[in-house]
Amino acid sequence: MGKVYVFDHPLIQHKTAMIRMTETSVKDFRELVKEIATLMAYEATRNLPLEEVNITTPMCDAKVKMLKGEDIAIVPILRAGLGMVDGMLALIPNAKVGHVGLYRDPETHLPVEYYCKLPNDIDKREVFVVDPMLATGGSAAAAIDFIKAKGAKNIIFMCIIAAPEGIEVLQKAHPDVDIFIAAKDSHLNENKYIVPGLGDAGDRLYGTK
Ligand code: PRP
Ligand code: URA
Repeated sequence: MGKVYVFDHPLIQHKTAMIRMTETSVKDFRELVKEIATLMAYEATRNLPLEEVNITTPMCDAKVKMLKGEDIAIVPILRAGLGMVDGMLALIPNAKVGHVGLYRDPETHLPVEYYCKLPNDIDKREVFVVDPMLATGGSAAAAIDFIKAKGAKNIIFMCIIAAPEGIEVLQKAHPDVDIFIAAKDSHLNENKYIVPGLGDAGDRLYGTK
């Protein structure tokens, strides 16, 4: 079973509280999501493999540790996942970026795919799938199905707010995937929105409704 990590860093908690607030503007929401993604990327990359390399400093030759390869891919789930990409690239500028387009059907709440474009060498990369919200888990599970179908093997899911229902669905569908979240909320309402949540992440990021 994939592990669930809830980041309790005060900066992440504070900024997550701010994006929940109704009065937070689109501009501030966008900036905060980006900042949270950077902070989460810092925590989520803690276990990336390192290798020893030989370098020369102005003083002498030295053996130091560096990341083993530059083999990371970031895959946002459109639309809202896009808001997390730049924040992650701030720390991992050489990562390649793929895109999976999904939306929840407003009647059935089931994910509908409309786009999938991934780096050709996705099978060799550590893949960070990102989306601010994990509600029923349908979108994340379907996105990871597509990404695995293209050959990806090492996948991490990163979201800001998750419902217990979504965590359970994702863990059952993809037991090999670790889940990184900033906050685990109470439950889903009758429209499958997270409570207390933040409302519709895509609409709040882009000012649509
Ligand atoms: C939101 C969110 C997730 C999905 C989560 O996207 O960004 O992708 O809902 O819900 P689930 O866990 O129940 O599948 P939405 O479908 O609203 O699309 P959008 O990002 O284009 O607004
Ligand atoms: N998608 C969102 O954007 N918010 C929710 O609460 C649930 C799904």
